[in-house]
Amino acid sequence: MAKDRIVSGMRPTGRLHLGHLHVLENWAGLQEEYDCYFFVADWHGLSTTFEDNSGMRENIRQMVADWLAAGLDPERSVLFVQSHVPQHAELHLLFSMITPLSWLERVPTFKDQVQQLGMQGKDINTYGFLGYPLLQAADILMYKADAVPVGEDQLPHLELCRETARRFNFLYRPVFPEPQSLLSRVPLLPGVDGRKMSKSYSNDIMLGSEEAELRSRVNDMITDPARIRKTDPGHPEVCVVHKYQGIYNESRLAGIVEECRAGRVGCVSCKKELAGILEAIMLPLRERRREFLARPGCIEEVLRHGAERARLEAAKTVEQVREVVGM
Ligand code: TRP
Ligand code: SF4
Repeated sequence: MAKDRIVSGMRPTGRLHLGHLHVLENWAGLQEEYDCYFFVADWHGLSTTFEDNSGMRENIRQMVADWLAAGLDPERSVLFVQSHVPQHAELHLLFSMITPLSWLERVPTFKDQVQQLGMQGKDINTYGFLGYPLLQAADILMYKADAVPVGEDQLPHLELCRETARRFNFLYRPVFPEPQSLLSRVPLLPGVDGRKMSKSYSNDIMLGSEEAELRSRVNDMITDPARIRKTDPGHPEVCVVHKYQGIYNESRLAGIVEECRAGRVGCVSCKKELAGILEAIMLPLRERRREFLARPGCIEEVLRHGAERARLEAAKTVEQVREVVGM
């Protein structure tokens, strides 16, 4: 029996951070069981970077290096850049004809984002940004995906995708399956300051960062402010290091908590232990990244090959869609 198919995409934001590693490990783990299409959503990225898109190409290279380092396998999965498969734009355009404006206006991320980015001085009250989730629907339906691995924040987009499939199937002929979400359970990783990890907060730990940089990030982590001396009893529940120990050093967590509360371990040595564990995770990633980036044309070749495979599938879908729409 043919494997079920999954499709997922990521905007090219540049170097990824430790939070992304969990997403990538999840993707990599799906490669065995599923026929996978993973793509760089560069058109989606453009919706917020159109004023200065000069970093886009390098961001794509850096991100794909992280993908490969984390175990995405271009032999098994189709890895490509969205804009290398122009059929995404055609399908998006066709969908735009049948999609009521109100569907897009009520997507909860839309008004939120326009407002949030507006406060940062970015005007994204654009046609393209309104259509963002519909382009995403085209990305997914193009490959007739059975499932889409996403985080919880993307569920409204997936709902819109299913509604689009239903409407198309109803208006013309049943062409598209309704994809299910494959909720990836990734740990909520705080940044070093305790807020959500994000490049824009400068509180992130970059994938493949050098050992010295990694150690200094761990040193930056917020600990229990009430602890001045090692012997002061600690409150691990308010401490970022403690959160990380729970994710990356689970077997030692209970012991650390006990020692911390009793004032028997200092934050310096607690951080040192964590840094050692993170370094063991980072070391192979750093080396693999470096290798992929150093091999001339390697990433470009991966993406060329992926786009070729994606275009074959996309051409079939678009042909079928044109047929049933009567173009
Ligand atoms: N909107 C997604 C995000 O911000 C990225 C994305 C674009 C995507 N197209 C997709 C995810 C298709 C899954 C499937 O994370
Ligand atoms: Fe946090 Fe560890 Fe210090 Fe306790 S000992 S406050 S868990 S860094």
